[in-house]
Amino acid sequence: MNIHGRPTRTIWLAEDGAGVEVIDQTRLPHAVATVRLASLADAAEAIRSMIVRGAPLIGVTAAYGLALAMREDASEDGLRRAVETLAATRPTAVNLRWALDRMAAALLAPDVNDRVAAAYRMAATMADEDVATCRAIGEHGASLIREAHERTGRTVNVLTHCNAGWLATVDWGTALAPVYVAHARGVPVHVWVDETRPRNQGAALTAFELGQQGIGHTIVADNAGGHLMQHGQVDLCIVGSDRTTATGDVANKIGTYLKALAAHDNGVPFYAALPASTIDWTLSDGVREIPIEERSAREVTHMTGRAADGAIVTVEIAAPGSPAANPAFDVTPARLVTGLITERGIAPASRDGLRGLFGDRPA
Ligand code: MRU
Repeated sequence: MNIHGRPTRTIWLAEDGAGVEVIDQTRLPHAVATVRLASLADAAEAIRSMIVRGAPLIGVTAAYGLALAMREDASEDGLRRAVETLAATRPTAVNLRWALDRMAAALLAPDVNDRVAAAYRMAATMADEDVATCRAIGEHGASLIREAHERTGRTVNVLTHCNAGWLATVDWGTALAPVYVAHARGVPVHVWVDETRPRNQGAALTAFELGQQGIGHTIVADNAGGHLMQHGQVDLCIVGSDRTTATGDVANKIGTYLKALAAHDNGVPFYAALPASTIDWTLSDGVREIPIEERSAREVTHMTGRAADGAIVTVEIAAPGSPAANPAFDVTPARLVTGLITERGIAPASRDGLRGLFGDRPA
């Protein structure tokens, strides 16, 4: 997707072929800056501090993190230690573990005699695959937007939560990929962007990327969705996912569940868009089994933004001294999900639905 009209990915190999460059998402939307990752520690810190974030991008950054780690210590022990370091950075998005397991299995194969070169090659392959996967999600999901347009004859209003756009992946995004494909095909589409407290990924990142692609959008407070749905102003909801169970339960940014409840009550279709790498085939009860990241209370009690003089400032917004809790994700049960938009097509959110698309995967 474009930044200032220039096609850009969120992560790429630096010109020296060793370092890895990423867009610093903690500085968006006020500055477009890149950060160079030169070591395993840099990659782990970039994930932990959310310089990079979004389930698929976390996975690809971890893959490159292992390539950087192999430059430091390419022994089997070094590889295992690096996998554990990266796996500990963020607990909910299963793409992280998926990417690390895939990399480790390939790098431990007996025919690999240069783990450094193999790791870079494989990380690059995973980045390219992510782009193709997200593009396919976009193709499948765009049919829903087109159908809504044909049904209503007017601009389709999509509501999304958090940022599951191209910034959350290598390119294209998951929840926003259908919007990009539909827009490119001339289907009129407008996006309601949940601001997504406490870190405001909607207001800061989703609004930024939609604006850069010239797609109509409106930022709303997180609590506005139910009202909009009651008044017929939302045709469909599309969100991303950080972990989806084999039975179709969907973990996504905190507040997603409340949108699904409101959608259910108002007969608004509610879709989650996700690559197969987000499916945790070992789990069947998302509410009980998916680990939910608990982040710093400071993200709730403080906000960062740009002041009138252009300075980036952090201010306290809560009663001083009051405790705050910050669960970063919630789980939407499959019964509230109309369908799962994947790279293989759209499936009902159920074990049978996922088996129908991914029958060759363990269930
Ligand atoms: O905490 P974040 O910003 O990493 O959370 C991101 C989300 O919740 C996304 O919706 C999810 O990762 C899907 S990304 C395509």
